[in-house]
Amino acid sequence: MRRTQVAIVGAGPSGLLLAQLLGRSGIESIVVERRSREHVAGRVRAGVLEPGTVELLEEAGVGERMRRERLVHRGFRLAFDGGVVRVDLDRHAGSSVSIYGQTEITRDLIEARAAAGAEVRFDAADVSIGGLGGAPRVSFRRHGRTEEIACDFVAGCDGYHGVCRRSVPAGALHTFERIHPFGWLGVLADVPPAAQELIYASHERGFALCSMRSESRSRYYLQCGAAERVEEWSDERFWEELRLRLPAEVARNLSVGPSVEKSMAQLRSFVAEPMRLGRLFLAGDAAHIVPPAGAKGLNLAAADVRVLHRALTEHYRTGRSDLIERYSETCLARVWKAVRFSWWFTAITHVLDDDAFSRRIQLAELRYLAESTAALSSLAENYVGLPFAAA
Ligand code: APR
Ligand code: PHB
Repeated sequence: MRRTQVAIVGAGPSGLLLAQLLGRSGIESIVVERRSREHVAGRVRAGVLEPGTVELLEEAGVGERMRRERLVHRGFRLAFDGGVVRVDLDRHAGSSVSIYGQTEITRDLIEARAAAGAEVRFDAADVSIGGLGGAPRVSFRRHGRTEEIACDFVAGCDGYHGVCRRSVPAGALHTFERIHPFGWLGVLADVPPAAQELIYASHERGFALCSMRSESRSRYYLQCGAAERVEEWSDERFWEELRLRLPAEVARNLSVGPSVEKSMAQLRSFVAEPMRLGRLFLAGDAAHIVPPAGAKGLNLAAADVRVLHRALTEHYRTGRSDLIERYSETCLARVWKAVRFSWWFTAITHVLDDDAFSRRIQLAELRYLAESTAALSSLAENYVGLPFAAA
């Protein structure tokens, strides 16, 4: 049986970033991932990084390409009522966000792990965890052989559908969930972005988002019905519908082209409490999901990893266990605020139902934002990421 200090389940951004940070602090880990390296490296996900996430990637030693290739955005646009309001992040929050795709972060992290000679066990089947009260272990099958890893701690970084959260005894976890009755249809295309900054558009036909990955690669989203399927959306239909939901001058500037990727996501808010059970830590999507409108999923995952890395480092360096004991409480305090923000931002920008009262309230929220510095400051401060608790 192999032994390591921290066994990490899942090679998404949470698992890879944790492994990388631990490695740089002299703590050994093994990452066990169900999917292939190619699959993990090719997944298209979010792309907006809070300054705190950028800082953590730099601390992990994977900031170089990001610093070179990212786009720094000092604001974004809200489109509604036929007009556009700019949310000046610099002015209202004294900060900015970085546009750099999660796909690129994953690639940088996989390369950094390989360069450090570290082990990521891709293609691991039937992963299971046990011994969480005393002597934890992770077992799996790989290339026809059964492998087992003994460890001090297990980090459950295996996403919403992972095995770690489900391995916790019934009754030990409290879960909170809201499934939003619509989805997002996303398209990636090698065309220049419609505008220099992101545009969040609230429209009677449904929400739309203009985002980007670079000056030549755009990412667009449309609110769609929860039961709709990607196959029902040809590229032509997508572009046509997007144009209808955007302000006229943006629609006129829209460059269209064949989609490189097209996918549908159901919107959900979910939190599992607590985030630590004995020697198991849950981090990232394994512990919480937010609807994507606030661009918080990846940033929250990074925030958990930041707290966990500090707690484990202190444990191994000084024997302190209080940071480990407070892991869940520290993370959840910030997580719930991001859940609240994501839920609110979704609620003011999406078509929720046919209720005329709700639509009037939505418009009142948006118009209030357009007129109030206080409202814009609140939006901006949440968008760039709330402060971290002092350790
Ligand atoms: N065993 C091993 N690995 C697993 C298992 C399992 N049983 N189940 C899932 N995994 C892997 C998945 O294949 C995936 O690579 O765990 C990883 C989880 O990665 P993510 O879902 O990306 O979650 P996380 O790393 O927490 O990142 C959160 O990434 O998914 C986005 O929108 C999300 O932006 C957010 C951020
Ligand atoms: C993205 O580019 O994928 C993206 C950007 C902003 C969001 C959500 C997703 O709020």
